[in-house]
Amino acid sequence: MLVNMKGKDVICTQELSVQEINALLKLAKEMKADRYGDKYNQLIKDQTFLMFFFNPSLRTRISFESAATELGGHAQFLEPKTMRLKKTSGGVEVQAGETIEDAAQVLARYACGMGIRILETSVENYGDGNALLREYAKWMDVPIINMADDKYHPCQGLSDVMGMQEHKGDLKGKTILMTWAHGALARSYCSVHENLLITSRLGMNVKLAYPKGYDLPEEEIAKVKVNCEANGTKFEIINDPDVGYTNDVEFVYSRNWFGPDFYKIGKEAEIARASKMTDWICTQERMDHTNNALYIHPMPVDRGKEVTDEVASGPNSIIVNIAENRLHTQKAIMAMTIAGMKVEI
Ligand code: CP
Repeated sequence: MLVNMKGKDVICTQELSVQEINALLKLAKEMKADRYGDKYNQLIKDQTFLMFFFNPSLRTRISFESAATELGGHAQFLEPKTMRLKKTSGGVEVQAGETIEDAAQVLARYACGMGIRILETSVENYGDGNALLREYAKWMDVPIINMADDKYHPCQGLSDVMGMQEHKGDLKGKTILMTWAHGALARSYCSVHENLLITSRLGMNVKLAYPKGYDLPEEEIAKVKVNCEANGTKFEIINDPDVGYTNDVEFVYSRNWFGPDFYKIGKEAEIARASKMTDWICTQERMDHTNNALYIHPMPVDRGKEVTDEVASGPNSIIVNIAENRLHTQKAIMAMTIAGMKVEI
């Protein structure tokens, strides 16, 4: 079948069909194998991709810039402070300025597409970042790519599974352990949600381990359960730092995330609480109980807290390969959604 994603926004992989996910992964692997090939290096020739960052980044900014360059175009960095945007709080205007409707329609006249990053520290309530991104998508008639919001991180999820497939082939029936870890960064849900959604969608068994009180939003867990039910796979929640590491586990993803009361208690209180739970860390001793599992993480890694150096730098760690894949999956997304490249799967 020929997959066509021209003009499509990429906000969460759950909103793509499995065929679209497979087409993006196939193209990303081909682009990785032929990185500077003539087939791809003029796809967005002379066009500008906008990158609107409300929050900082290392991988996302540089990989999108490189992706645009390698496709023959240019990526332009934008920050809210460089634009006179209207700001509201609780429905009340706190900063006069331009509406999203106006800004978005004008930006779409200049660019071939736009990525947006807006994480929890730039919004007041869970979901506000995702809602803002969707508001831009509503008014822009060029593709919007989510570069990580407070709910989802589709480019990360695609890069995770691309790396997992590169090392272990078809993921169907294989098991991933996603485990909470302590740390001093009070991490967003976006990468964790995206990995749970896409791995369950592609037919993996999912074990989710976290301390009591660190439940992920119910609506996302419900989607993961539906994905697993549709594939006849298992979904399990474990409130223990040890017992998830079993001999069926082929991938371990350890990551800190904040508790559901984060938006009320704030970052400092969250970090103070999470930092005490030092037993929640991925160690080699724990990895030794798995099926020679590969270690994955979206990076940046909070070494010594989320995972030991021994595991993060060890032979089973594929974190840098996955980070590299951000470039290739994003090139594939831009090629299909912006340039209209069609992929046979
Ligand atoms: N994984 C990821 O999105 O990294 P950055 O925050 O550095 O972009």
